[in-house]
Amino acid sequence: MNDQITWELFERQVAACNLCPLCQHILHKVPGQGDRNAPLMLIGEGPGQVEDEQGLAFVGPAGQLLTKMLAAIQLPRERVYICNIVKCRPPHNRIPTPEEAEACKIHLRMQTYLVRPRVILLLGATAAKGVLGDQVRITRDRGIWTERKGVWIMPTYHPSALLRDPAKKSEAWEDLKQVRRKLTELGLYTDLLKEE
Ligand code: URA
Repeated sequence: MNDQITWELFERQVAACNLCPLCQHILHKVPGQGDRNAPLMLIGEGPGQVEDEQGLAFVGPAGQLLTKMLAAIQLPRERVYICNIVKCRPPHNRIPTPEEAEACKIHLRMQTYLVRPRVILLLGATAAKGVLGDQVRITRDRGIWTERKGVWIMPTYHPSALLRDPAKKSEAWEDLKQVRRKLTELGLYTDLLKEE
């Protein structure tokens, strides 16, 4: 990747993309949104119905819970960058196939290059496998950091899983506190709390 990679190119590339069949049945592509200089990037699975309607990531019920989770560690969601493994809604919210996830990686790679996050939180198994590899098991590996070229990456439960099974919330809270700790260690947490 080099200096020719720009947000404008990213947007054009996503808009024109037909690398997999998911784009055939959608209302909007959902590239992702938030602070493009954020030290913290959140990656989910793929857009749901509300996200498809609005063209924005995590704005439905799971997104509302995500906003509350971030608020619990005093992070306004506008200060982080939020996106998904796939940018188009899979029909009936099914899990994206490995082929769809693979095809969409070109966009995620470009996005990660542009944001240059120092910490990445992977929401759910699809994001965890998509970024860390197929061997990841979310119940076993959540809360465990992997460092890659100075970027700290951790899987946690997807907010939809927490809506289905609130008993998982205490583990998710432990993971969020770890994110806060890592940002603090890196000297980035107080910056995130500052008013714009
Ligand atoms: N679930 C996801 O994984 N991503 C969204 O954007 C919404 C729900």
